[in-house]
Amino acid sequence: MTDSMPPDAAPPAPRLYSPGLEGIVAAETSLGYVDGEAGRLLYRGYRIGDLVEHGTYPAVANLLWTGEWVPQHHLPTAPVPEAVMVALRALPTTAKPMDALRTAVSVWGAMQVLDWPPTPEQARALTAFSPSALAAFARLRQGLEPVEPDPSLDLVPGFLYQLTGRPADPGTARALDAYFVVGAEHGLNASTFTARVITSTRSDIASAVTGAIGAMKGPLHGGAPSEVVEQIHKVGSPERAEAWVRDAIKRGERLMGFGHRVYRAYDPRAKALRRVVESMEHKPDWLELAIAVEDVALRVLAELHPDRALKTNVEYYAAAVLMGVGLTPDLFPATFALARHAGWTAHVLEQAGSNRLIRPDAIYTGPSERDLPT
Ligand SMILES: CC(C)(COP(=O)(O)OP(=O)(O)OC[C@H]1O[C@@H](n2cnc3c(N)ncnc32)[C@H](O)[C@@H]1OP(=O)(O)O)[C@@H](O)C(=O)NCCC(=O)NCCS
Repeated sequence: MTDSMPPDAAPPAPRLYSPGLEGIVAAETSLGYVDGEAGRLLYRGYRIGDLVEHGTYPAVANLLWTGEWVPQHHLPTAPVPEAVMVALRALPTTAKPMDALRTAVSVWGAMQVLDWPPTPEQARALTAFSPSALAAFARLRQGLEPVEPDPSLDLVPGFLYQLTGRPADPGTARALDAYFVVGAEHGLNASTFTARVITSTRSDIASAVTGAIGAMKGPLHGGAPSEVVEQIHKVGSPERAEAWVRDAIKRGERLMGFGHRVYRAYDPRAKALRRVVESMEHKPDWLELAIAVEDVALRVLAELHPDRALKTNVEYYAAAVLMGVGLTPDLFPATFALARHAGWTAHVLEQAGSNRLIRPDAIYTGPSERDLPT
């Protein structure tokens, strides 16, 4: 499409207009590659399944920040500065965890000296701080005191420990770590673009991530694994799965956690998470049910839509893992935001590395030049 101009303005050079910037290339990146046709997701060229199998979230975050694959890279959670704790204590217990996390990152940024350009050390410090802040808020709203970080634990087991006050069993920590790995990066989505726009003004990394959390809070971003949870609860037991799935489709409902706009094959993130979930020694009952329902749903969808690849998407196993590790559904979006810190901050570093102020144009559709009414 070309733009229009007020009638008395000079004729414009034709410019592209794409609502939502769909199809517009706005950056070059060496971080993540999403290949929907083949069902591939690569971080710096490495397959997501291999990263889940052989890596941890700290190793993957470090890979995104530095380009180096150091499988034993250790990143414990960091303490919450007093000013952040004061802000978290002042919030109503009914505040959304995403709002609490956004507030915490903003206050944290005010406590730091965050010089330009942003550095991997800044990315590391922020990524290590946020899980402690979310865990602190999750406890404060239940009337419990926050738990100090245990520096011997890596980021995800550390987060679980600060959330519950007890060490997590290794299978549970491993499943949530896998979720963090698959959630770390996914191209130029709305929140990542937000982080890059803020960085392009030479603002600081905390401002970029505060804005990114705000963008991710919207219901059109980040998906809704809690709807998957609701669906599994409605099914109730593996024996009821077949009848429930067929009835739901007959009623014209969509099965939550199946189908995808981009992926035409089984979502590689769901595949990686399923493998981890299936290898858990102590699968919570909920996970057993989710696996049983998936098998039925895939069979029924293939039977009813033989020409359309309707496979499991990441939301399904995100829900399975998040419920399986014992998080309440209202913590799901903020936990996703924690996972995405690695990608956001890596994009901040990349944007700063070859910065150009992001400043798109708009087509003026208002009145032509005119005199104020007298
Ligand atoms: C994600 C989604 C919007 C992608 O849609 P899409 O690829 O554009 O698919 P379409 O809307 O073109 O649907 C194609 C056909 O498959 C069916 N279909 C698609 N997803 C389905 C699902 N989850 N359950 C049942 N049927 C589904 C549609 O009803 C349609 O059938 P029809 O041709 O008989 O009308 C869609 O699959 C969906 O609503 N999934 C459930 C919600 C979900 O899991 N969202 C998280 C995504 S990460």
